[in-house]
Amino acid sequence: MDLNKKRVLITGITGQDGAYLAKFLLEKGYEVYGIVRRISTPNYWRLQSLDILDKVILISADLTDMASLSEAIQKSNPEEIYNLAAQSFVGSSFDQPLNTIDVNGLGFLRILEVVRNFNKSIRIYQASTSELFGDSVSSEGIQDEKTSFKPNSPYAAGKLLAMDLARIYRESYDMFVSNGILFNHESELRGLEFVTRKITNEVAKIKLGLSNELHLGNLDAKRDWGYAPDYVESMWMILQQDKPDDFVIATNETHSVREFVEEAFRLAGLDWREYVKTNEQFKRPYDVRYLKGDYSKANNKFGWKPKTTFKELVKKMFEEDLNRWQRHFDGEVFAWDAINHPGNIKFLYKSKNK
Ligand code: NAP
Ligand code: GDD
Repeated sequence: MDLNKKRVLITGITGQDGAYLAKFLLEKGYEVYGIVRRISTPNYWRLQSLDILDKVILISADLTDMASLSEAIQKSNPEEIYNLAAQSFVGSSFDQPLNTIDVNGLGFLRILEVVRNFNKSIRIYQASTSELFGDSVSSEGIQDEKTSFKPNSPYAAGKLLAMDLARIYRESYDMFVSNGILFNHESELRGLEFVTRKITNEVAKIKLGLSNELHLGNLDAKRDWGYAPDYVESMWMILQQDKPDDFVIATNETHSVREFVEEAFRLAGLDWREYVKTNEQFKRPYDVRYLKGDYSKANNKFGWKPKTTFKELVKKMFEEDLNRWQRHFDGEVFAWDAINHPGNIKFLYKSKNK
């Protein structure tokens, strides 16, 4: 432990946002700890591709296991905790509702309880979401901090529980707990099941002749899509405020899944109508139809604004997927493939003498 550095604990460090946030905080001079859960195949490809796997300190813990969380928080003894771990795929929350609520709702309660008992001065960021709005929208056609919540999925119900608990712990115990209500944000490190990455990955394969169909569900759904590296900066800013609070982070633009498809195929020089098939398998029992966030509060309070446009986002993702498949084709091994080569990992194990 480097006592000259501020310490931070990130849950979900192996995910898209966790990896970008870890890189951002390392550059700010923090000592970065992250919890990783035990899975059968190591999942360090994002940390590897950002070249930070050997710069972060990993602790084995799970959001469903309070004892492991308690140990992770005591060992890292952080000034700030970013709770990014979640069962984050809305579609799967209909298949695994209990696990989703356990991780996304109760998992956060476990963190709050550990912090309340261990050190109430730790600042906590909770990864909240635009999914909370469901079909709620203002008369101006936007969602902001005053728009009512109406979750449409077990995923969003779990996140709403966490958001309520954040407010309750803030008011009851004077704890610094803030929510970032982030609208969709994507990147070259996005999981393959999310619609943006599914599209850019598949269009890249089609372009290289490795695939000839793209099966999608609801093409009419509209989302406010931003770029993940822009968004992790807002997480840090939210925890640097004088008081805990909740902030919407978005681009204030909305685009349909169909528009995303059209743009990705346009970049590939192909006509999307020849390749895209709608498939009931990818439709949800209850989908959120429209999201468009107003980020004025964050902009007025600490000057945050998105830096990447919709077209730039699609281009970055498509070009990186094309590049990966091209290199894969050429037989090159790179971080995306190399999940079984974890390298020089700093892992903090349980000590015998505790
Ligand atoms: P992601 O890529 O799916 O990452 C989720 C992370 O949570 C992974 O590191 C995963 O570990 C970890 N995790 C899952 N279950 C866990 C458990 N039981 N114990 C410990 N760790 C667990 O998600 P993301 O896109 O980075 O999103 C980060 C957070 O922001 C999530 O809470 C998400 O709900 C929220 N959010 C995301 C968006 C968005 O558009 N990206 C928008 C609003 C809110 P493994 O690697 O082992 O699976
Ligand atoms: N995943 C997926 N796959 N979605 C599809 C498909 C498909 O084949 N076809 C259409 N869609 C539609 C979904 O029905 C949804 O309306 C939209 O595309 C976006 O789906 P996802 O990319 O899976 O993201 P999401 O909006 O459900 O959830 C993401 O954003 C939330 C913030 O609003 C996740 O990152 C959540 O964790 C996050 O909270």
